Amino acid sequence: MTENQTATSSTAAENAQDHVNSARLQDAIAALAAFGGRDDGGVARETLTDIDLASRRHLIDTARALGCEVEIDDCANLFFRRPGTTDLPPVLTGSHADTQPVGGKLDGAYGVLAGLEVISALNDAGISTRRAIEVVAWTNEEGSRFGPGAMGSSAFVDPSRLPAYRAVKDSDNITFGEAVDKALQQAKDVTHRELALPIASCVELHIEQGPVLERANAALGVVTGIQSVRWYRVSCTGMAAHAGTTPMDERSDAMKAAVTIAHQLYAHAAAEAASNLRLTLGRWQVGPNSVNTIPGNVDFTIDVRCVDAEVLERFEKFLQQIVAAYTWRGNIAFECFFSRPPTHFPEDMLTLIERACVRAGHLAQRGDPQHLTSGAFHDAMYLAEHCPTAMIFVPSKGGISHNAAEETAPEDLYLGVQALAYTVVELANR
Ligand code: GLV
Ligand code: MN
Ligand code: MN
Repeated sequence: MTENQTATSSTAAENAQDHVNSARLQDAIAALAAFGGRDDGGVARETLTDIDLASRRHLIDTARALGCEVEIDDCANLFFRRPGTTDLPPVLTGSHADTQPVGGKLDGAYGVLAGLEVISALNDAGISTRRAIEVVAWTNEEGSRFGPGAMGSSAFVDPSRLPAYRAVKDSDNITFGEAVDKALQQAKDVTHRELALPIASCVELHIEQGPVLERANAALGVVTGIQSVRWYRVSCTGMAAHAGTTPMDERSDAMKAAVTIAHQLYAHAAAEAASNLRLTLGRWQVGPNSVNTIPGNVDFTIDVRCVDAEVLERFEKFLQQIVAAYTWRGNIAFECFFSRPPTHFPEDMLTLIERACVRAGHLAQRGDPQHLTSGAFHDAMYLAEHCPTAMIFVPSKGGISHNAAEETAPEDLYLGVQALAYTVVELANR
């Protein structure tokens, strides 16, 4: 680092931005995607599975080769630290490396690898920063194996949430706590650190996972916030009985109850179309799940989202009403196991990200970034409780994500890391 680079942080930010290497980024994405990689191009790397643990080892080795110190906390969040010239709280970037049961190679992984690419660019350019830069790989952002999602970042900002998370079981009855302990066991060579440490600021780079940027022909997105989300578990308990012998009017059919509730929820979502309510009934468990037995138990999940938290309030009242109104000999119960209000990122972070995106976009002759709200939730949602936080998006081809076909043009991925490098260096020199 030269005197000039610490004194004029914008020079260092531009220099870092200009040292991002697209080919190296693509190689890193391919290497991580090999952990859980599928023939259809997708990735199956649910949180804390053996394949996820192997990918964590790969990330640890990669970060150490870049000169980073590696640390792990009680929720098995991994931190790759490039020291600064002071002991001031670090600037945090990164995302998650776990996937949906079948996901793409970019959702989360891109943000982690982008952070490591920023560190490579800083190393290449010989730039030091006042604050340390930490790249994080949060545990269990997806929430598909252990619900809810974003447990790692949630426990990081509020460690009192961890004991309840540790008790959550996956479909094989393994607790999140057992899975975390296995990850910690396999990372004995990694320094332990506390949860909730002070962080100066946080920037998460992610693929958009929706169609907004592509439709606007924008290479980069300044994310102004994240819409609100609630997850529910609905349990319908009737009585299993013979499919051939039990008269229709003498059944306690849990599937009939569940399907009736589901139809009513879809009708409600249609009536709320103007408010952009998004409804997903993603997981169904049927007991005994036999072709010729009337289902005695049907459990299903609800994922409901909206930018307007009032709309989710109305949704919950409607759910209460229809459950109470359904008359049969069985029982319907529901519980909310994840609820987040909308997140709004602070103006000064948005201004900085805008500047970073404008420079990257203009140098590549791709024009100005687009402002948008995130439809997906992200770890940044929790970090925003802890420190000034913001996000950068790059487009998703066809808006497709949580699918093996998830894709983003290499040029867009490159511009995203360029914008990230500029932002992180500016923040790290504050
Ligand atoms: C994150 O994966 C989400 O469901 O928004
Ligand atoms: Mn993600
Ligand atoms: Mn995801």
